[in-house]
Amino acid sequence: MALRLTVLGTGYLGITHAACMASLGFDVLGVDIDARKVDQLNAGQLPIYEPGLTELLRSGLDSGRLAFTTSYPQAAAFGDVHFICAGTPPQPGSDHADLTQVNGCVATLAPLLNRPCLVVGKSTVPVGTARRLAAELSAACQGVELAWNPEFLREGSAVADALTPDRIVAGVMSPSADRVLRTVYARQIADGTPFFATDLETAELAKVAANAYLATKVSFINAMAEVCEAAGGNVYALSQILGADARIGSAFMRPGLGFGGGCLPKDIRAFLARATDLEVGQALGFLREVDSINLRRRTRAADLAGELVGGDLTDVPVCVLGAAFKAGSDDVRDSPALDVAQILHGMGAQVTVYDPAALANARRTYPELGYAATLAEAARGAHVVLVLTEWTEFAELKPGDLATVVARQNIVDGRGVLDSELWRAAGWNCRALGVTVTSPVSSQVR
Ligand code: UGA
Repeated sequence: MALRLTVLGTGYLGITHAACMASLGFDVLGVDIDARKVDQLNAGQLPIYEPGLTELLRSGLDSGRLAFTTSYPQAAAFGDVHFICAGTPPQPGSDHADLTQVNGCVATLAPLLNRPCLVVGKSTVPVGTARRLAAELSAACQGVELAWNPEFLREGSAVADALTPDRIVAGVMSPSADRVLRTVYARQIADGTPFFATDLETAELAKVAANAYLATKVSFINAMAEVCEAAGGNVYALSQILGADARIGSAFMRPGLGFGGGCLPKDIRAFLARATDLEVGQALGFLREVDSINLRRRTRAADLAGELVGGDLTDVPVCVLGAAFKAGSDDVRDSPALDVAQILHGMGAQVTVYDPAALANARRTYPELGYAATLAEAARGAHVVLVLTEWTEFAELKPGDLATVVARQNIVDGRGVLDSELWRAAGWNCRALGVTVTSPVSSQVR
């Protein structure tokens, strides 16, 4: 008989995993304690913006293979494999991960289990969590086992990442758990995706180590941006040159405003906090620097705007283009763009923000900022425009589009998406992070 799956937690990860598994032919029950969200999902409405996911959700619901419930007893009776996809935000006032939701899923499910099954963690957790949960589960019911199977999907390309991952990591305690996960991921394995069976701790580390490495790469190139600003180089050209070395590679070497979102920033902090608990904090001390480099880009972007308007931003109308932490998402958690908007607001500027997808979330999170429904409305009367998220709509802007809308022709390119020569030739003062004023920003090395 085909395996039946439950997915506990309907955040980003849970919805994507549930819809993708249903599209692969599994019967899937998504579970959340939030009845409003469950109703919304059962009605085919996605609470987040993610290209391609609404279609997958709806086709899963229409096929009858996918449904959502608030009932843990129903989930316990239904599932042969239970995936834990709960969020692990930072604890209030601490860098440590808050495991309340993950612990809650296991604590609620465990006493309801009365037959052998596999519980599989997908959430990003501090190393050591899985072994503790495994003990809890095996004490609750004989034949119930735990495995850890971290997820590496990115917002904005979640569906493709989940259906065709670079690798599958399975932290397992027995050959039978290994077999179950190979059955769940049979399609991806048949398509050639490498499957790494390992121990629980290595599986947990695979996720946080990957995010730490990605964050380090971004901060490395942004550290080079600081040097370029001081020395007169062009970090975009430097990034291309470094990326052409196959040993370095060009992925995650895009300079600019740096990383944000609900994963990289909190994961590197939680990793360092966990390493400190394990008395190996020194080994990850560099992540503190990775974090600082990243945050310094935000103040630098605000300072560039200040420089363009002559130093004082008090009551100066400023247009911020971008609120999402990256293009293709409506997520504003730890958004570099909104952080810069906040810094500018703190400097006394009259900030108006526009974003094609994240306006509602931004407005809810930062009600003190001004918002506009269109790019032109946000730019009207501005003394300086800042491009802070790399949406295509912004990358395709031409100097003439804004020339008659703004009050002063000053623009800061925080994501390296504009052709600075073009803007300067049209009479704009155009500044980019990591590029001195005499050096063109260009995606091409000349
Ligand atoms: C990240 C990881 O890439 C995923 O593999 C992981 O599964 C996910 O976190 C998670 O832990 O759940 P995500 O946060 O969706 O995914 O976004 P990324 O594509 O990693 O981008 C993160 C930030 O880095 C964005 O703000 C982006 O603008 C910035 N970035 C990325 C750069 O500044 N430069 C780059 O070259 C690449």
